[in-house]
Amino acid sequence: MSSPPPSSLPPLAFGGDYNPEQWPAAVQREDRELMRVAGVDLATLAVFSWAKIQPGPDVWDFGWLDEQMDELHAAGIRVDLATATASPPPWLARLHPEMLPVTRDGVTLWPGGRQAFCPSSPVYREHALRLCRAMAERYRDHPALALWHVSNELGCHNARCYCDVSAAAFREWLRARYGDVDGLNEAWGTAFWSQRYGDFEEVLPPRAAPAFPNPTQQLDFLRFSSDTLLDHFVAERDILHEVSPGVPVTTNFMVMRQTFEMDYLRWGRELDVVSNDHYLIAADPHAHRELAFSADLTRGTAGGRPWLLMEHSTSAVNWQPRNRAKEPGEMIRSSLAHVAHGADAVLFFQWRASRAGAEKFHSGLLPHAGTDSRQWREVVELSQVLDAVEEVVGSGTDNQAAILFDYEAWWGCELDSHPTVDVRYRDRAEDFHRALSALGVGVDVVHPSADLSSYRLVVVPTLYLVSDEAAAAVTAAAEAGATVVVTYFSGIVDENDHVRLGGYPGAFRELLGVRTTEFLPLAEGHTVRVSGLGQGEVLADVWAEDLELAGAEAVAHHLDGPAAGRPALTRRSVGDGVAWYVATRLAAEGTDRLVARLVEEAGLDRLPGAAPDVEVARRVGADGSWLFVVNHGSQDAPVPVTGTELVSGRDVAGDLVVPAGRVAVVREGVS
Ligand code: GAL
Repeated sequence: MSSPPPSSLPPLAFGGDYNPEQWPAAVQREDRELMRVAGVDLATLAVFSWAKIQPGPDVWDFGWLDEQMDELHAAGIRVDLATATASPPPWLARLHPEMLPVTRDGVTLWPGGRQAFCPSSPVYREHALRLCRAMAERYRDHPALALWHVSNELGCHNARCYCDVSAAAFREWLRARYGDVDGLNEAWGTAFWSQRYGDFEEVLPPRAAPAFPNPTQQLDFLRFSSDTLLDHFVAERDILHEVSPGVPVTTNFMVMRQTFEMDYLRWGRELDVVSNDHYLIAADPHAHRELAFSADLTRGTAGGRPWLLMEHSTSAVNWQPRNRAKEPGEMIRSSLAHVAHGADAVLFFQWRASRAGAEKFHSGLLPHAGTDSRQWREVVELSQVLDAVEEVVGSGTDNQAAILFDYEAWWGCELDSHPTVDVRYRDRAEDFHRALSALGVGVDVVHPSADLSSYRLVVVPTLYLVSDEAAAAVTAAAEAGATVVVTYFSGIVDENDHVRLGGYPGAFRELLGVRTTEFLPLAEGHTVRVSGLGQGEVLADVWAEDLELAGAEAVAHHLDGPAAGRPALTRRSVGDGVAWYVATRLAAEGTDRLVARLVEEAGLDRLPGAAPDVEVARRVGADGSWLFVVNHGSQDAPVPVTGTELVSGRDVAGDLVVPAGRVAVVREGVS
């Protein structure tokens, strides 16, 4: 799907968070001059400026911000203007300590950091909306204004609050969901452990308890918490739409492996344009693969449309245990990888590395060392690369493979009291994505309720919780001709986290033609051998099942471990398509062999030049297509493609070589 980005935004915008209030006027002048040198055309302003804009309940100071807006406009830089509600000022907490968030253990989180507010607090809501309206009224006609930025990373530090105000709001949410307390008792299965409620007033958030809290209570609390922050976003957005019509509204998501609290696939429907913050996991030697998956998922939250990379880092961050600096060229590779997967802006946190505060060791576009630095030279180079590839803006993708992804399934899958702690929700999704990418198969990551009719391969990884409708849609996709592959611990429970009876994997049992009578999770670090996937054996760990065939054929078997002799991989013809089941956690080699077979069987097109460390993606627009090649490896990569390579400006005729560590973007076709 392709669509034009909001016209108020610079094409393939480049820039980042700008916090001029941390610096004197002379530095601010230098900032604007260096932004010009670096080609910055979009700055995010006022994200953490509440205390400066409103130093007291009825004291306002917009003068400094007026000046910043004017100066940036004069410098030709557009502004992504925050509503400034992300971090309440100390005076507000002093007046209203009841707005502070409380952990499940009953610990109050005090001001002194950021985001110290309870998402359900009416006091916070009232003051935030007052500020949001004041910002909208003051800047709606400012010529620099390109985009409204609601709050910042809603839920980054305070996604779940367990205070009494939250408890009351949770009860209201439950009343709306269940109508009466009997409905709640049924859904939560409260006949267990004497948990029956006689009245909603008895219900609490899942605070620290002597034993595992009720799983459906936990699941509903996650739903409630995501909905509450989304409701806050919508309240600010509605004010902005009312007061400042025509200016698009966003809020920055955190689609990455570490963040699961917000159901971004639902949130995305409420934003005018999706934006995302993404930070590499320093300890992961293949962090670029997680980046590619997250970028595809971000495109999924945007309904397939282009989105904005609101934040990433030029080099190290400051909040991981060990903060690895990026290697030469890595920042440009990461940036282009995001664009390859649909980003129409490349922005960073932050413009100038701070001198003071908790983020002073976080990299910026302009490092402490100044412009005589490798980081700065790469920033300038990146800006030139982005200018060269600007024509991709607005283009989308036309992938033939989909991975189904659902935050509710993530929440349910990783609750406590399960067969093993080693089943992680994103694990199989990322591994199939990795294997497909290595073969040059582009992937959409979509919600189970998405239209699956255009996909020839549908991957259903660890979809623990699934509705009847979603299970039926997966079956329909197979019947209509798709190859479907379901992995273990899928289809186990309904939306209330109640087990689907009669044998696992309940919701997919018929489709797959298998019936599992017992899970056989493996001991920590224990590997088993599986045969039948090509020559020799492949390894697997974490999971096995006591699986019987009920219509499917066994493709591979366990050679040892608790499921020795049992099928590990099955296949069943269904209508015009095929349904596969993977009943163990295959190591990478096994996934690679399986995926190669699936790609072949489904007859998927493959992008040229892809390899395990050579990321290839195609964006498709109304006027053509662009092949992105990001060479993360240490060898030069040959790519048989014809067209114009935009970064170098050279024509290529089937013989592009992308040097180790470099990127290329080819407008495909004979020019
Ligand atoms: C984000 C946040 C930024 C900055 C950045 C550091 O979570 O939005 O304000 O803190 O991380 O990596």
